Amino acid sequence: MKKGKSGVGQKIVANGGGPDRPARNIGSRKRARGFPKGRQLEDAALREVRELLGSRPRRPDLLIEFLHLIQDRYHYLSARHLRALCEEMRLSQAAVYEVATFYSHFDVIKEGDTPPPPTTIRVCDSITCELKGAEALHAALKAHANPSQVRVLRAPCMGRCDTAPVCEIGHLHVDHATVDSVEAVVESGKREPVIPPYQTLAEYRAKGGYSVLQSCRTGARTVESVISTLSDASLKGLGGAGFPVGRKWQIVRSYHGPRLMTINGDEGEPGTFKDRFYLEREPHGMFEGALIGAWAVEAERIYLYMRDEYPAVLHILAHEIAALEQAGLIEPGFIELRRGAGAYICGEESAMIESIEGKRGYPRNRPPYIAEVGLFDRPTLNQNVETLHWIPQILAKGAKWFADHGVNGGKGFRSWSVSGRVRKPGVIVAPAGITARELIERAGGMEEGQTFKAYLPGGASGGILPASLADLPLDFGTLDKYGSFVGSHAIVIFSDRDDIGAVVLNLLRFFKDESCGQCTPCRVGCDKAVALLERDKWDEELLNELAQAMRDASICGLGQAAPNAFITAMEHFPHATARSDVAGRPDRY
Ligand SMILES: Cc1cc2nc3c(=O)[nH]c(=O)nc-3n(C[C@H](O)[C@H](O)[C@H](O)COP(=O)(O)O)c2cc1C
Ligand code: SF4
Ligand code: FES
Repeated sequence: MKKGKSGVGQKIVANGGGPDRPARNIGSRKRARGFPKGRQLEDAALREVRELLGSRPRRPDLLIEFLHLIQDRYHYLSARHLRALCEEMRLSQAAVYEVATFYSHFDVIKEGDTPPPPTTIRVCDSITCELKGAEALHAALKAHANPSQVRVLRAPCMGRCDTAPVCEIGHLHVDHATVDSVEAVVESGKREPVIPPYQTLAEYRAKGGYSVLQSCRTGARTVESVISTLSDASLKGLGGAGFPVGRKWQIVRSYHGPRLMTINGDEGEPGTFKDRFYLEREPHGMFEGALIGAWAVEAERIYLYMRDEYPAVLHILAHEIAALEQAGLIEPGFIELRRGAGAYICGEESAMIESIEGKRGYPRNRPPYIAEVGLFDRPTLNQNVETLHWIPQILAKGAKWFADHGVNGGKGFRSWSVSGRVRKPGVIVAPAGITARELIERAGGMEEGQTFKAYLPGGASGGILPASLADLPLDFGTLDKYGSFVGSHAIVIFSDRDDIGAVVLNLLRFFKDESCGQCTPCRVGCDKAVALLERDKWDEELLNELAQAMRDASICGLGQAAPNAFITAMEHFPHATARSDVAGRPDRY
């Protein structure tokens, strides 16, 4: 469950108040004269916060950005700085603490508590990394670390599953991490990300980039023709839900403006790394696609939400947005980059919108859908990074070019994130409708000495299927009758050496940690599922009953999809229980 629901925030804010709070927050309660209540404002802290915020407007939607500024500068959020931030933004302490404690990348430190040490090592413990030894790595790093200098934390998928196991030290990732390689980085003092070489704006334009956008803006293309080309191409949303893009644009346009657009770059589904793949290589495909979308729905502004786990991407995006402004392709401020703060649930579009508004990432109840009432209550077009990436190419090369690339009834390309027990894990751009067996072949086959046993067709959410079902076409809808789905197209391959029960337990622990805690079926359900899956023998009846309640009554897709893993495992692997760790080692944590 996310931190903010654990009661930490609530306990702290019970202190709230004080003589310096805006009148609207004080209410009518009287206060003992001469004895100010609550946490006191420190002039020095206020000066420090003001200096950090500079001339930025003190808008409440920028709260998370400001928390990042403080966290980046001081490595934690002290009570005195949070108090000063409340003052500066004229927000209640409750409002600020509930946000700060929700996100795992913020370290809220109460008065009298010890701040974290200067160096944080995050060890990814999601499924592919666990498969590749993350448990042992975490234990060894923890045993070696000097706790006054270094803390070692577990963290969910970092979107680098092709180089598992992975650690992050400050903002610097270590791929194929070992104790030695991580300790060498700690010693080196390096904490900033390595920026990979990527296609710049000038290089993209030299190859004809932004000519499709120009043809839209100059009137050579109409909105109707663009929408019908995308519909003919059968382009679907590639963030997980597969909603047809052309139809979504029409729906958003049908609501009265002013409208807004969001780009979902949260990519937190374990096993998924395709958006990062594109953004670290050719970010302008996404930018051009987004600007075409904004033109089509007449969006006033684009908010680009990028996960904090991708610091190199954040750097690239900031740089390239500035380049777009300088080139006159966008007005200054037209694309606003927003940084997530370590919460998987903020990939769910309504939670992402809450986060952009500066709040906790609580998914909204629907209807209304965000197409009608979205960001700042405006009709909002939201698309995933990869969805946008394909748009300029489809418009330049034609609907048929894209649609014809599918196989087995699928239409178009997909970017499959393939990881686990294959020789060459990575992003494989291949037709929609391809099978898992073919993807394994394209990924160089199984690792030496391993026999294919099972796979996740859609990351942690999409269930687990046996090798005997590896010839099914993989596309939206094709796995429904197996209780499974492709979602974000994250394929994780397991071998005969892997313990399916432990795989399922790892997936449910992820959901338990990442549930926002807003609704009972998911908050309690994930917790209960983990407890049941930890038992030596799975109680199938109880697990089925639990799954039913979670699917029927959870507010969002997290709670609805979380049971897929154990329901499909019980069907296809009837003797599964977590007898070892994922990689089959009996000395389980
Ligand atoms: C729990 C959960 C997590 C999600 N995470 C992401 C994500 O990281 N990135 C993404 O684009 N969509 C994610 N989605 C799907 C979004 O809600 C939404 O459908 C998508 O961003 C729409 O864009 P698209 O139509 O281009 O796919 C998630 C959905 C759920 C329920
Ligand atoms: S299902 Fe409920 S508790 Fe779970 S993540 Fe969604 S809103 Fe939060
Ligand atoms: S980076 Fe560790 S599972 Fe994805």
